[in-house]
Amino acid sequence: MKSFDSSNEKISVIGLGYVGLPLSLLLARKFRVTGFDTDASKIDKLQRGINPITEPGVDDLMSDPAIMDHIELSHNSADLKTSRIKIITVGTPYDPNTDYIDYSQLNGALDLLHGNLQIGDIVILKSTVPPGTTNSVVRGRIISYGFKVPEDVGIAFSPERMVEGQAIKDFTSLPKIIGASDPETSGIVAEVIGSLGGRIVQVSNPETAEMVKMVDNYSRYVFLGLTNEIALASEKVGVDALELIRAAKQDYPRNAGLLLPGPGVGGSCLNKDPFILRADLRKKSLSLRMVDAAAEVNRSIPKHIADLVMQFSNGRKKAVIAGVAFKGDTDDTRFTSTFEIAENLRTRGFEIKFSDPFVNISDITIDHDIYESSTDSEILILLTDHTEYKELDLMRLKSIMRGRPLIIDTRGIIWRDHAVNMGFEYHGYGRL
Ligand SMILES: NC(=O)c1ccc[n+]([C@@H]2O[C@H](COP(=O)([O-])OP(=O)(O)OC[C@H]3O[C@@H](n4cnc5c(N)ncnc54)[C@H](O)[C@@H]3O)[C@@H](O)[C@H]2O)c1
Repeated sequence: MKSFDSSNEKISVIGLGYVGLPLSLLLARKFRVTGFDTDASKIDKLQRGINPITEPGVDDLMSDPAIMDHIELSHNSADLKTSRIKIITVGTPYDPNTDYIDYSQLNGALDLLHGNLQIGDIVILKSTVPPGTTNSVVRGRIISYGFKVPEDVGIAFSPERMVEGQAIKDFTSLPKIIGASDPETSGIVAEVIGSLGGRIVQVSNPETAEMVKMVDNYSRYVFLGLTNEIALASEKVGVDALELIRAAKQDYPRNAGLLLPGPGVGGSCLNKDPFILRADLRKKSLSLRMVDAAAEVNRSIPKHIADLVMQFSNGRKKAVIAGVAFKGDTDDTRFTSTFEIAENLRTRGFEIKFSDPFVNISDITIDHDIYESSTDSEILILLTDHTEYKELDLMRLKSIMRGRPLIIDTRGIIWRDHAVNMGFEYHGYGRL
């Protein structure tokens, strides 16, 4: 019989990265938590009150004594033994060139459970994995340690669906999907994970919960492929893709899935989850043709943006790229299309400078001030929808850029008429 007495028993969170750290702090509002990581220097920083990740709201949680009194930070695996609920939030990195998923962190976390599990415990996996992993890998390991699943130890998968930059809001409001080995485990996981906020959605088994996470990003990736294709079609037809998409969505729920186009698909989840699912299903003799088609479109967009710059450059060669992050108002550069576009343009003889208010990369010069980096440039290529770029002072820019400058706007954040009136030549992706 499994039970969880929140006043006496503990929860441990294994892996304190972008997911595990905010999760453990939020759980510590209600429960006693052990936040565990194998990275001793990270634990040392956290124990000294230093937040190792860039995520709005985490500093506030870390300076709340009521939360910090409820959390023990550790890299000693013996500290895991006393918690009845063990939540695994380690990384599952993916290499797009080889389709290889690196399970070493997950295997390491499961190794730690050896000797630290007790009858009545529940192991919840939150790391993103292909369907079947909880019931094969996690279950298999627990059985190999001498326990029966679910009679002795319950297991569950509950996908993490948050987006960096808004993690706290997402953790506390998004629906929580739970797929467990048995109803008793599902109920306890619902009590723990449900304490964060958001609706609880219990599904029949871990595989369904694992598939929900795959489908979240698989469908978004396919919709982005469709949106990018609509942008390419709009250029040929001679309409404005943004006006078209906004009009098509207006009070018409059947078009609700349409997204806005951008200069490529960035971010680790969208570039990982559809492809780990594709690789997994290939082994089961199913090709995910929608993923293939979307990838063909999405991966062609950076070159298309470089082609647009080339097409309208008309002898102008000095360009500044505004935005290195793949997403507005973050410093996240994972799978950003900026460098592919820059490299393509450099091979065609363009002089490229980078500007981004948030990004620092040790061996690349990135000017934080868009006006300084634009001085003397002839082309402004807008790739990231940072708020600062939506509020650009075009009169100031015109006065410091050379001649009649060209703007290539891939995000639709500059008002064309205003830019033209200020003396710029303006072309947008999907809206030439
Ligand atoms: N970051 C996101 O936006 C996001 C969103 C949804 C889902 N996810 C998924 O959640 C999982 C975690 O992602 P993340 O971004 O937090 O990763 P991360 O790399 O930021 O953090 C992983 C942490 O686990 C620690 N670790 C590695 N091996 C360990 C072990 N054996 N025991 C304990 N700790 C160990 C690392 O030191 C690191 O601190 C991944 O599967 C990811 O795909 C991430």
